[in-house]
Order: sequence, then C-alpha cells, then structure tokens
Amino acid sequence: MGPAALRAALGARRRLAPGPGGAGLCAGSMGWARPRGLWLWLLLLALGPGCARGSWMWLGVASVGLPDKLGCADLPLSGRQKELCRRKPHLLPSVRDGARLGLRECRSQFRHERWDCALGPAPAAAAAAYELSSGTKETAFIYAVTAAGLVHSVTRSCSAGNMTECSCDTKLQNGGSASEGWHWGGCSDDIHYGMSFSKKFLDGPAKNITGKDGSGLLAMNLHNNEAGRQAVAKLMSVDCRCHGVSGSCAVKTCWKTMSPFEKVGRFLKDKYENSVQISDRLKKKILRKEKSHRKIPVRKEDLLYINKSPNYCVEDRKLGIRGTQGRECNRTSEGPDGCNLLCCGRGYNTHVVRHVERCECKFVWCCYVRCRRCESMTDVHTCK
Ligand SMILES: *[C@@H]1O[C@H](CO)[C@@H](O)[C@H](O)[C@H]1NC(C)=O
Ligand SMILES: *[C@@H]1O[C@H](CO)[C@@H](O)[C@H](O)[C@H]1NC(C)=O
Ligand SMILES: *[C@@H]1O[C@H](CO)[C@@H](O)[C@H](O)[C@H]1NC(C)=O
Repeated sequence: MGPAALRAALGARRRLAPGPGGAGLCAGSMGWARPRGLWLWLLLLALGPGCARGSWMWLGVASVGLPDKLGCADLPLSGRQKELCRRKPHLLPSVRDGARLGLRECRSQFRHERWDCALGPAPAAAAAAYELSSGTKETAFIYAVTAAGLVHSVTRSCSAGNMTECSCDTKLQNGGSASEGWHWGGCSDDIHYGMSFSKKFLDGPAKNITGKDGSGLLAMNLHNNEAGRQAVAKLMSVDCRCHGVSGSCAVKTCWKTMSPFEKVGRFLKDKYENSVQISDRLKKKILRKEKSHRKIPVRKEDLLYINKSPNYCVEDRKLGIRGTQGRECNRTSEGPDGCNLLCCGRGYNTHVVRHVERCECKFVWCCYVRCRRCESMTDVHTCK
C-alpha cells in the first residue's frame, strides 16, 4: 500500500459515521487497498478512536503482528480497553492470541462457504467494517468466536502459570473418589478469570441496555459475546491418566480441561446455522423478530442477529464484500463448496495445475535417499 492508498484511507475516515450501537467498527468504503504490516496499522489508526471500537480483533490479524513500538494508547482499542491495557500490559499477548485464535477458527469453519470470514489481510479493513457492524449472522459468529478465543487464551495463560491474577483450579487439587479409584490432580483449567476478563474487556461496565431507547445492535453484540464465552464453559471436559501396574488403571488422576478450540468453533458454527433473528427495537428485553415465536425464550447460548445477510455472491465494494468470483470450488460436491452453490450459478473455469513432487524414494546403502521427480496434473475449478 502506498501513500496514495493511505490518503484514500484518511479521506475515508471523514466519511465514516459512528457505527450503530457503538459496539462495531464503522462501515465505510475504502476500496481495495492491500494494507500490509505497518501500513495496516497506520490505516487502523487513521480509522480513529470512536470509530474503531470493537476493532481489538485487529490485534489477531496474522500479517500485522504487534509492533513493539506501539504502546496501549496507539493500539486500535476503545478508551476503556486502553485503560485495561495500561493497567495489565502483561495480558496484551493473551488478548492478541485470543483474537488470533478466534479469527483463525472463523476462517477454518467458513473456508468452504460463500462468506469465508477472510477479515484479513487483503481488503480487510472494508470487509471487517461491514461484517462487524451489519448485525447479521456473520457478525454474530465473529463476536462469539473472538470472545470465546479471549477466554481460551487467557485461561491457557493462567494454567501455564504466567499470571499473578489466576492459576490452575486450586479447589480441585485434593478430593475425588477413592472408592471409584480416581482423584483430582495435575492442573485443572480455571476459566473464571478468563470469563471475567473477556467480559470486562469486551462488554464494558454493565449497562442498562434494555431501557426505552436501547439499541438492538448493542444488545445483540453483547449477547453474542456472552454466547461465545458460554460455549467455552459448556465444553469443559475431564481428562484422566491411568496409573497402576502395567497400565491396569487401578488409580486415575483427573483434571478439568477446556476443549480444543476447534470444538468450540464447531459448536458455535452450529449455533450460527440455527441463529435467532431478533427485533431491532428493544422493549424490556430481547424479542424474537417473528411474533408467533415470541413465547419461546431466547437462550443464553443462542446466537442472535437482526439483519438478513446479503448472499455474498457478487462483489460490493461499498460493503467490502468480495463476492465469490475466482474462489476455488469442488465440481463434485453438493455442499456449500460445490461449484454450483459457491459460484451462485454463474459457472466456473477449469485450469490444469501441474504438481511436481519427490516420489518412489529408495534408501541407498549407505546412507542416502534417492527419489524420482513425479509430475501430476489436477484440475482446479474457480468461479466465474
Ligand atoms: C507463558 O510464558 C512463557 C514465557 O514468557 C511463554 O513462552 C509462553 O508462551 C506463555 N504461555 C502461555 C500459554 O501464555
Ligand atoms: C432498565 O431500565 C428500565 C426502564 O428505564 C427499568 O425499568 C429497569 O428496571 C432497568 N433495569 C436495570 C437492571 O437497571
Ligand atoms: C470434492 O467433493 C467430493 C464430494 O463431497 C469429495 O469426495 C472430494 O474429496 C472433494 N475434493 C476436494 C479436492 O476437496
């Protein structure tokens, strides 16, 4: 990205209006600049405080890294987050790892879909701005998975003994059941600190958001943050190790552990697919959009959205939607990665790609391995 693109970004700032509900980034058109490294940071800073609220997620964009020279004040954080950052600078790596974990899982869960959660690095800024403030199911997933990522990374740091604020779950260190042949041991993950930190960092002080002119979007984002955290809590499990003569398992040591984050991602993906549309006007509490279903309570773990999603088929520069043109698709799949669905019926191009690899390797006495070079051709299909 060159100076011209930066000027364009700075120009864009002036056109940006504060995001609805205040919990998202501002939507804005920034064209297809390809910000990299420090330029991306400058771009983020150019978006400015107040506008970049919610953008802590940028800390997790892989190509950006965390420039050492930037202090808390220069990071794309809200005022309250900067304050927390100043008070607890040692938590910053966990915050970055949490964002990274969440965004990586988002890309992994959606890699075969029209919306592929590609928030970074390419046309990142514009895309993320839309995704984070549009009130769609995709917004819901991003908020939930990054809030969950933050719980996960902070808790891992607690268990690793890296924090003074928290450690392993000491309540579980003694006890168990001698008659059933197991006892608590090792380090049980204690998610309490991670949960409360994620809440404090992302949600801010408890607000009365169900007042008379409460914003539906803010309530939605806060609810989805909590749904993400609850997913980590719900998927806690118990691992055990056997002891005893030659694996007889006469005695077991057990500890509580968080599920691998991939499992949290799958759980939230399922919630995304069954997410609940709510009314954008808040009365006393969150209401389902569909009047005939209002009796069914909204559960803590549901993902909520307000606005219907675009189909993500065609490029929309204003909204930062890339469209699926050029995406690789699978000719034989009936699923979302199939050429038919992914290309939205526009058809696809086929290219032949040549692979060269080492093959038929033999061990030659003594001592090296000799291989042949094998070539193979595969068809790659990309959407028109
Ligand atoms: C704990 O701290 C060490 C040393 O700073 C670091 O290498 C390690 O990655 C940290 N572990 C976690 C889970 O944060
Ligand atoms: C929130 O505001 C409403 C109306 O202004 C009020 O009735 C309600 O008690 C408040 N709730 C809390 C938790 O303060
Ligand atoms: C394409 O989809 C088919 C059917 O779902 C699957 O068996 C195959 O492995 C997929 N191919 C690739 C390259 O992913």
